[in-house]
Amino acid sequence: MTASIAPGADLVGVPIAVIGAGIMGAGIAQVAAQAGHPVLLHDARPGAAAAARDKLGATFDGLVAKGKLAAEAAQAALARIEPIDALDAARDARLVVEAIVENLDAKRALFRKLEGLLGDDAVLATNTSSISVTAIANGLARPQRLVGMHFFNPVPLMKLVEVVSGLQTDPAVASSIFELARAWGKVPVHAKSTPGFIVNRIARPYYAETLALLLEQAATPQVLDACLKAAGFRMGPCELMDLIGHDTNFAVTQSVYEANFYDKRYQPSLVQREMVDGGLLGRKSGSGFYAYPEGVPALPVTVHEAPATAREVVVHGDGAIADALEAAAARALAPEGWGPARERASGWTGLAIDGARLVMTDGRPAHRIARESGVEDAVVFDRLLQPAALAGSALAFAAAPQASAAWRTQARAWLAALGCAPLAVADTPGLVVARTVAMLVNEAADAVQQGVCTPEAADAAMKLGVNYPAGPFEWLAGWSIEGVAGVIDALDACYRGERYRVSPWLQRGGHAR
Ligand code: NAI
Repeated sequence: MTASIAPGADLVGVPIAVIGAGIMGAGIAQVAAQAGHPVLLHDARPGAAAAARDKLGATFDGLVAKGKLAAEAAQAALARIEPIDALDAARDARLVVEAIVENLDAKRALFRKLEGLLGDDAVLATNTSSISVTAIANGLARPQRLVGMHFFNPVPLMKLVEVVSGLQTDPAVASSIFELARAWGKVPVHAKSTPGFIVNRIARPYYAETLALLLEQAATPQVLDACLKAAGFRMGPCELMDLIGHDTNFAVTQSVYEANFYDKRYQPSLVQREMVDGGLLGRKSGSGFYAYPEGVPALPVTVHEAPATAREVVVHGDGAIADALEAAAARALAPEGWGPARERASGWTGLAIDGARLVMTDGRPAHRIARESGVEDAVVFDRLLQPAALAGSALAFAAAPQASAAWRTQARAWLAALGCAPLAVADTPGLVVARTVAMLVNEAADAVQQGVCTPEAADAAMKLGVNYPAGPFEWLAGWSIEGVAGVIDALDACYRGERYRVSPWLQRGGHAR
C-alpha cells in the first residue's frame, strides 16, 4: 500500500468537485455550497451542469421567498457553484463526490481518470446506492482513498448519510467523510460495503413480507397498509411501493437478491414482477396497488356489536402489553360492574373469555394454537407494537378454522370493545405487524452480526433513511429476543425453506460471538 490520507484529514471547507449533475449531484452541490465549500459541478452531458446551477438558483430564490435562507447567503452559495465543461478543471478539488449513472464500468472509468488528475491527498467519494464500493475501487492505484458517501433523496432534506467502507478503504478516509457529513448538518453512519448497505438491506422485509402475504391472498393491500400504519409506519408498504415505483423497487430487490447469490431471503415477488411487466408502476403510471390520483381508498366503516355478557374474563401475560389489555378489558367491563382477573404466568398474552381464547400472536397461527392448547375456540390478533395502539387502530386478527361461528363473532366484538379496529386476515404465522417487524429486526441483527453496522447505526439509519417510527433494536428492546425468534421459527415451520432463519446474533442472545 502507498501512503494513506492523514488520519482524520479535515475536509471542512475544501474545494469539492461533484461529478454528475442529475437529481443527486445537484442536491449534493447545493448542500456543499451552503456549507461554504467552493463547488465545481461537472456532467458528461454538455450544458447539464450549467442548467443544474440555474435550477439551484431558482431553488435558492424559493428558499429566500419562504424565509428559510437569507438573500445574501443564497447569493453566496450560488456564487460558490461553478459549472465546468471539462473534467480536467476539477484538478484542484480536495474531494470528489461522484453521482453519475449507476454503472460499475462508468464509475470505475471515471475514478481512474480522476486519479490521474487529482493531488495525492484528494479523497474520492461515490454516492452509489447499490454497487460495491470495493468493486468500484478495484483498479485504482490508491483504492484506500475511495469511500462511499451515500446520500438519500432529496439530499437537502434527508439527514442520513451512509459512509460506506470497501475492503481497502482507509478508516481515516471514512472518518473524514463522516466528520464532513456531520459538519453539513447530516447524521452519518458507518457501514461496510455489502449489498444494500444498511437501509436498502434492512428495509427489504417491509416490502417482502407484504408481497408474500399478497401472494397467498392473506389480505388486501388496503388492510395490510392499514395495519402497518397503525403500528406507526408513515406509509403502508403497498402505498410506499406505489410511490417509489414498482420498477425501481423491484430493481433494488433484484440487485440485493443477485448480490447475495440468490439467497431466498431476498427473493423478489411474483406479485411485483407481474405489476412491472404489466406497466402498473404505481403513482407515476396512474395505477399500482391503487388507482391514482385518488390513492388509497378509505376502509369501509364497520359497526361492531358489543360482546355478549361473559361470565369470566381473564387477562393472561406479563408486561406492558398485558397491562394495557387489562386496562382496556376493565374499561369494557366497567358498565357491568366487574373487572377482569389476571393470570401473569401462563406463557401467553391475551384474554380467556369463558374458556375461549383471544391470543396475541407469538408467531403461531390460530390453528396451531388451537391444536396445541386443546382450545378450539381460538382467535389470534396481531402484535400491539405499542400498547397505546389499542386506541382505535387497525389490528389484524384471524380465527382458527376449528373455531365456532359464535366465537369468531364474539372475538371480533371483543377486539372492538378493547378499543381497536379489527381487520380479518387469513390464518398466517405472525399475521402482519409481528411478522414484518420480526423480519426487520432479524435482518438488522444479521447486519450487525456481519459487521455491516452497529445497532445504533441501524436504528438511526432506518429512522432517518426511511422514516421508520423506531429503529429495529428499539423494537427489540420493547419485545424480546425469544419473541422475535419465536415468530421467525413459526414462519419457518409454516413455509419451510431458507427464508426464515433466525440470525446468529439473536441466537447468541444479542452477541456477535
Ligand atoms: P440522474 O440520472 O438524475 O443523474 C446522473 C447524471 O450523471 C446525469 O446528468 C448524467 O448525464 C450524468 N453522467 C452519466 N455518466 C457520466 C459520466 N461518466 N461523467 C459525468 N456525468 C455523467 O441520476 P441520480 O438519481 O442523480 O443518481 C446518481 C447516482 O446517485 C447513482 O449512482 C444513483 O444510484 C445514486 N443515488 C440515487 C438516489 C436517488 O434516489 N435517485 C439515491 C441515492 C443514490
